[in-house]
Amino acid sequence: MRSSPARGDQPGENQVEDKGALFGELKNEAERILAGPGAAQQRLQAVCDLLCLRVGHYDWVGFYLVGSTEGVLELGPFHGKPTDHVSIPFGKGVCGRAAAERKTIIVQDVAGETNYLSCSPDVRAEIVIPLFRRDEIIGELDIDSHEISPFTQEDRELLEAISRAAEKIL
Ligand code: SME
Repeated sequence: MRSSPARGDQPGENQVEDKGALFGELKNEAERILAGPGAAQQRLQAVCDLLCLRVGHYDWVGFYLVGSTEGVLELGPFHGKPTDHVSIPFGKGVCGRAAAERKTIIVQDVAGETNYLSCSPDVRAEIVIPLFRRDEIIGELDIDSHEISPFTQEDRELLEAISRAAEKIL
């Protein structure tokens, strides 16, 4: 008689379980950093470092913040290669679209995206979560991946939870 497969024998099973456990830890750690001491910019930087270093499919993690010019996102703390896109008007690129549409945008393959600002040819997918103060857009959390279709509901939930915690210190 064949025994039923042991736990972890199914393709992707460990990966999914590991992702859930890792993301639970990262949510707690990011919330602890954001609620902790230090200047807001330093805390945002620590969150970028944490996410980029711990999640294999996050290759660039950064915050864009709305500064003195209304309707423009300015590059804030980030972890990854420097980008040319330091200032992005609402509506332009995936970042500008998330601000204009006021919602999380996930692009699972940037090759199919017409309104896109390329930071590096290595980037294949992107997720952007807008940050709010009451009704106003005050910035965004932006993540690039070198993999196609890397983002699941777990990524969205983790990053939206971190964004809600980041809004409180901005
Ligand atoms: N790809 C973004 C620009 C920002 S970089 O990813 C850091 C966009 O299309 O808005």
